[in-house]
Amino acid sequence: MAKRLEGKVAVVTGAGRGIGRGIALLMAEEGAKVVVNDLGGGPDGKGADQSPAMEVVDEIKAKGGHAVRNGDTVATAAGGEAIIQCAVDNFGGVDILVTNAGILRDRMLFNMTDEEWDDVLKVHLYGTFYCTRAACRIFRAQKSGRVITFSSESGLGSLGQANYSAAKEGIIGFTRTVARDMGKYGVTCNSIRPRAGTRLTLTDELRAAMEKKKASGVESPGTEMDLGSLTPEAVAPFAVFLCLNEAANINGRDFVVGGGMIGLVSLPEITKVNYKAGIWTVDELAGIIPQTLGKDIVNPVPGAK
Ligand SMILES: NC(=O)c1ccc[n+]([C@@H]2O[C@H](COP(=O)([O-])OP(=O)(O)OC[C@H]3O[C@@H](n4cnc5c(N)ncnc54)[C@H](O)[C@@H]3O)[C@@H](O)[C@H]2O)c1
Repeated sequence: MAKRLEGKVAVVTGAGRGIGRGIALLMAEEGAKVVVNDLGGGPDGKGADQSPAMEVVDEIKAKGGHAVRNGDTVATAAGGEAIIQCAVDNFGGVDILVTNAGILRDRMLFNMTDEEWDDVLKVHLYGTFYCTRAACRIFRAQKSGRVITFSSESGLGSLGQANYSAAKEGIIGFTRTVARDMGKYGVTCNSIRPRAGTRLTLTDELRAAMEKKKASGVESPGTEMDLGSLTPEAVAPFAVFLCLNEAANINGRDFVVGGGMIGLVSLPEITKVNYKAGIWTVDELAGIIPQTLGKDIVNPVPGAK
């Protein structure tokens, strides 16, 4: 292996399992020293267990790599600071941050509790912010760095995932702005919307929820594919690529990555316009929009009035 990350220090959050584990292992194989962060709770974020992260550290060390375990939560400012400080204390700095930690607390909006909303926002959106802010203070001073955030196609609209969708699309906006705030300091920030069979996507309970979504006929992009054949390790090579000099121009973009597929997601753009000199009346809009820019819009919910 070319050891393309030799001399780099990488922090990977949620690296005890799934996609994060694959990224930590590959980054270590490529020569990076890795902070393997993981709280080790259940898919819903409850509980804590240090053994998954420790196993990944042991695996890296057994192959001759360098790694250290960190068990702080990403969901608090103190946790985010401590995770980045762990890289500084053990390896003398940080060059790469992968904000991959994640949980699910699915519920239809009308039944969703404040706690379910807050917990998901805290881990995904706040966790991404806390870790990225702490790393970017260092990146700014050293004038280099890479941030890879994790979003989801569920952000495009997914039945029963208002908390998760909000957090994941928030991460996309965050990523685009970090790219701009940090670009002049030699830092890039990009996001991956992965497709992989992990405990978040392949438990019996979640399979049943996916079947329910399919049966409802409501379009939920990204939750309608068979993830069983897509390994979590398949996401890692593209995450490593984003850290290379060859990716220096790629900044503020998001990609769907699964199996052998890497897809660049387009930026939102205005596709049709209705214009008049002056302000539209509601009557005018009711007359013209259904004939023009509203004409081909299909409600994702079958039979909705
Ligand atoms: N698997 C997919 O197809 C898929 C699709 C879209 C998005 N994602 C996203 O990819 C990322 C990785 O998901 P995965 O499928 O590998 O799931 P996973 O459950 O296998 O791994 C996520 C890890 O994050 C850790 N974690 C959770 N809360 C934490 C916290 N507060 N602090 C530190 N660690 C914490 C968990 O302990 C777990 O080990 C997540 O952000 C997820 O939302 C995954």
